Formats: sequence, C-alpha cells, structure tokens
Amino acid sequence: MEPVVHDSSLQRRLFLRYLAASPLLAQSVMAETLETVAKSIRPEATSSSLRLLGESLQGRRAPWQIESPEEARSVFDFETVAANRIPPAHFGFLQTGVDGEATLRANREAFGDLYLNPRVLSGSGQIDMGTELFGQRWETPIVLAPAGSQRAFNPEGELATARAAGKQGNLQILSTVSTTSVEDVVTAYGAPVWYQLYPTSNWAIAATLVARAEAAGCPVLVLTVDSLAGEGTKETQARAKSLDSRPCSACHPSPDTYLARKPMFNGVDISAADPALGWGANLDWDFVRQLKANTSMKLVIKGIVTAHDAERCLENGADGIVVSNHGGRAVETGRGTLACLPEVVEAVSGQVPVLVDSGFRRGTDIFKGLALGATAVCIGRPYLWGLGAFGQPGVESVLSLLRNELEVVMRQMGTSSLSEIDSRSVGRHRG
Ligand SMILES: Cc1cc2nc3c(=O)[nH]c(=O)nc-3n(C[C@H](O)[C@H](O)[C@H](O)COP(=O)(O)O)c2cc1C
Repeated sequence: MEPVVHDSSLQRRLFLRYLAASPLLAQSVMAETLETVAKSIRPEATSSSLRLLGESLQGRRAPWQIESPEEARSVFDFETVAANRIPPAHFGFLQTGVDGEATLRANREAFGDLYLNPRVLSGSGQIDMGTELFGQRWETPIVLAPAGSQRAFNPEGELATARAAGKQGNLQILSTVSTTSVEDVVTAYGAPVWYQLYPTSNWAIAATLVARAEAAGCPVLVLTVDSLAGEGTKETQARAKSLDSRPCSACHPSPDTYLARKPMFNGVDISAADPALGWGANLDWDFVRQLKANTSMKLVIKGIVTAHDAERCLENGADGIVVSNHGGRAVETGRGTLACLPEVVEAVSGQVPVLVDSGFRRGTDIFKGLALGATAVCIGRPYLWGLGAFGQPGVESVLSLLRNELEVVMRQMGTSSLSEIDSRSVGRHRG
C-alpha cells in the first residue's frame, strides 16, 4: 500500500515531477502549468483566486478551460471561465474571504471530515429530492443564496439568475443590494422570490424595504445578521482591484453613492442611516421582535453558527434559520458551517427549518448538509461563476449539474427521498 503523504511540499514536488514526466504536455504549456500548479498548491485561498486572475490577465487559457456550459464537469469549470470574463476587481469581490481566509478554507475542509455510508441494492431507482419550506414544495433542495451587485458579473445580473432559477425550479433569495429591483426579479423568475434584508441602523429604512418586498409578494424575509457589526478585511478583493486597469470611479463615483445606486434604495432617504453603524451595528434582538411584529412575511435569520444564537432566534420569533458564515466573508471564525450545523439543528429540534450555506460545491457536499439535518442547502459563488462565465445558460448549467450530482449520490446511497437521508448516512473521520 502507498504511504499516505501529509507533507504538502512533498505532495507538490511529487505532482510537479508527475507533470514534468508527462509526454502530453508541450514545453511552453509545461512552464506555465508548473507555475500555476505550484501556486495553486499553496495553502492560501487568496493565492488561488489571484492565480486564476493572473492567468486571465496574461491571456493564458488553462488547458482544461471549457468553451460552453455543456462541457462543464463540475462547478469549478465555471470558476476558471469567470476569472477570464469578469473584470479583475469584480472577480476579486466575488472570490474574496476575510482576513487570512481561514473561514473560507474551513468551509471546504469541513466536507472532508465526513464520509458517506452507502446502502447497496436498495432499489432506489426513482429519486425524489423534493423538500417543503413554509408549506411550499420545491422540486430540489438547492437554493440560490442572496448575492449583491450581480451586474458586476454579467450585464443581465439578477435578471439572468432569476430566469435560470425560475426555469429550473430552484428557490432564489434576492439581496437587498441587488442591481435589479425586486419587482423586475419577480417578473423574470415568474413568481415571488424570498427577500434578504440588510436593515441599516435606521428603522424607517428597514421598514420601507420590507414593505416593498411584501408588496411584491415575497413570502419570506431573510434577515442577514452576520455582517451587521462589520466585516473583516477583504484582502483578495483589494489585491484584485489593484490589478484592474479600469478606473473604478467611472462607475463608482464615490463610496457615498453605494446605496443610492441600488434600485431598492430608490426614493429612500438614506441620509437617515448612520454610516458608522454599517448595516446595523446598533441592532439587538429587540429589532428581530420589532421586525416580526411589522411584517406578515415569514422571518428567517441568516448567519447563525452557534446553538446559543439559534436558541435566541427561536425565543425571538424566527420562523427559520440559515446556518451561514457568508461564505467566509463576514467574521473570521475559522469554523466551517458543516461543523456548525449539528449544534444548531440540535438546538432547534425540528421547530423551524434550518438551511445551510458556505462552501457547497458538489452533490456529495449537499448530501452531507442534508444528512446533518438541513432542510435545504444554499449556494453562492458557484451560480455566480456560472453567471459570470456564460450568463443565464451558465447559471442553468450550474443548477442542473448540482441537481444531477445530488441525484446520483442519493441513488448510490440508497436514499430515494430526503426523508431517508439522516445522520446514519454519514460518519466522521477520527482525529
Ligand atoms: C459576491 C457575493 C455577494 C454576496 N452578497 C450577499 C448579500 O448581499 N446578502 C447576503 O445575505 N449574503 C451575501 N453573500 C453571501 C451569500 O448569501 C452566501 O452566504 C455565501 O455566498 C455562501 O457561500 P459560498 O459562496 O461559498 O457558496 C454574498 C456572497 C458573495 C460571494
């Protein structure tokens, strides 16, 4: 048996030697590939994002880069194309984590801590991956997480996303800082979507946004709480910005106009918000109760990672929870959400649905989230890669690829419906 290699520099050397020995690679491609691979094996996610950007700026095309959505073998194929097609500063915004990006990495690493326990010969030919949220049935538990500023990735932005999600039957959550209004997204999607709220420090602003979402028919309000007290330093974003030759001020005249440029803030007196308090650093659980009392929408709280806060959600009237660390973009907790999920599920004990996001990239990842008790799984960057790479068809492809992957793993696992997926479906590696 081959010894297990833990030394990353040894792994790198072995891999470089393997590449160097490959007769398939021409000499010029080889030099670039070796450099690329050497950089990609470095542990920082930051360097892997910047590597993709560096390649795109130098006009190189990785040998495995796809030319159409149909060629994609995994969602990562869209990431490479997105790095080439999205302007560097915007790609940095998409990819970035915070601080040393330990949380961004932990999100992915947490999937490796679990293994699957397949049941063979189960006859699970017909797969039903339907799930129910607040009385509505969804054909798939894969949800599009809220993401702001989608026109930064493709001129059609949230409209392309909404058309793709509507066509594929996936639930979409629209961000407060979308570059398309909720009314236009609802039209493109073909039904009301869920609406995500960044409240600001001012109640009147929050109330105006909520009333508008309610009037557009949105059945669920998703209050994001993990970035109210501010975010860590976004190094990848800052470095990528410095690689962009275009003047940012051409489109973003000043940071003060950030909210004014977002359609949901049209007609809103944004001067009432205290910039020093960001999205609402002054808020506490009283705000949750106030919000709940002032809307007929269901209230879901996004950005919960501990049992303690899950209990506060229930005490203060939340109808659902999203276990999320904002894709490693808010607080540098260093803990992946898959590791946080069990304690939240246990605290909630079935009283409200628990969704999860951050780092889900494959059908097996989604399966693991469901096995640990999630009712649905949200994805962020993968569909944004699809959007940046190919617009609406790219988003459609990402969604169908993940759906197909989930279907395959459910069949392999002998679980023909979500109710058959439970904690016995997975095990935890020791150590
Ligand atoms: C470019 C980008 C913009 C985002 N904007 C928002 C937002 O406006 N509101 C919000 O609640 N979360 C936002 N998020 C976080 C996502 O909703 C989600 O929690 C995260 O992307 C999940 O992690 P993943 O990207 O690893 O799948 C954003 C994420 C990205 C990548």
